[in-house]
Amino acid sequence: MKIAPSILSADFTRLGEQVKQVEEAGADIIHFDIMDGHFVPNISIGLPVIESLRPFTALPIDAHLMISNPERYIDSFARAGADMISVHVEAVVHLHRVVEHIHRLDCKAGVVVNPATSLYVLDEILPYVDYVLVMSVNPGFGGQKFIPTSIDKIRRLKSMITTRQLRVAIEVDGGIDLTTAPLVVEAGADWLVAGSAIFGAESPAQAVKEMRSVLQAIVKE
Ligand code: DX5
Ligand code: ZN
Repeated sequence: MKIAPSILSADFTRLGEQVKQVEEAGADIIHFDIMDGHFVPNISIGLPVIESLRPFTALPIDAHLMISNPERYIDSFARAGADMISVHVEAVVHLHRVVEHIHRLDCKAGVVVNPATSLYVLDEILPYVDYVLVMSVNPGFGGQKFIPTSIDKIRRLKSMITTRQLRVAIEVDGGIDLTTAPLVVEAGADWLVAGSAIFGAESPAQAVKEMRSVLQAIVKE
């Protein structure tokens, strides 16, 4: 089970320090939300922020590209230091080509599905990806309410993966906190992205530790 704090909700005046805090508290992945104001109705951060944080953390950098035509930027994100790159199925025509491109750059490749996107679109691409990111809110903003039907969606995706004996991780993103984390993990999620629940907390480090103990309690059950 991996915890991936999303820096979208971090204090950007103290970004390095906050990343260090969650790293020391046991976070597994640093999640970057890249938004272009076109694919999603918001603009966030981009390549220079990944470049500056790359030497600053030993954790894998997960670039969640909420941008149109992501294929144009794959090389740049890999060069900037991303270890994992995910693209939205809704934003890509030649998905297999993009996934192979990400792999050629020695990065883990993920595909992302919006809440209203059916899992059927994953049928053909599933054997080629390292992870599927299930959006449990509509992408674009931190701090939104978890969409409850995501739980059954994760359960169905998990069963697609196990039935076909694939090694594909399930990442979940949006509205993950101490209440929703156990629900998505029980449904089959492997990696949890959390923005406001971690960086919106008084102590991000403490928030990571609390989430870890909630997850450990489920695994032991
Ligand atoms: C939403 C982003 C998320 C966001 C999650 O568009 O993809 O990664 O930061 O934020 P919370 O955890 O606050 O829902
Ligand atoms: Zn994200």
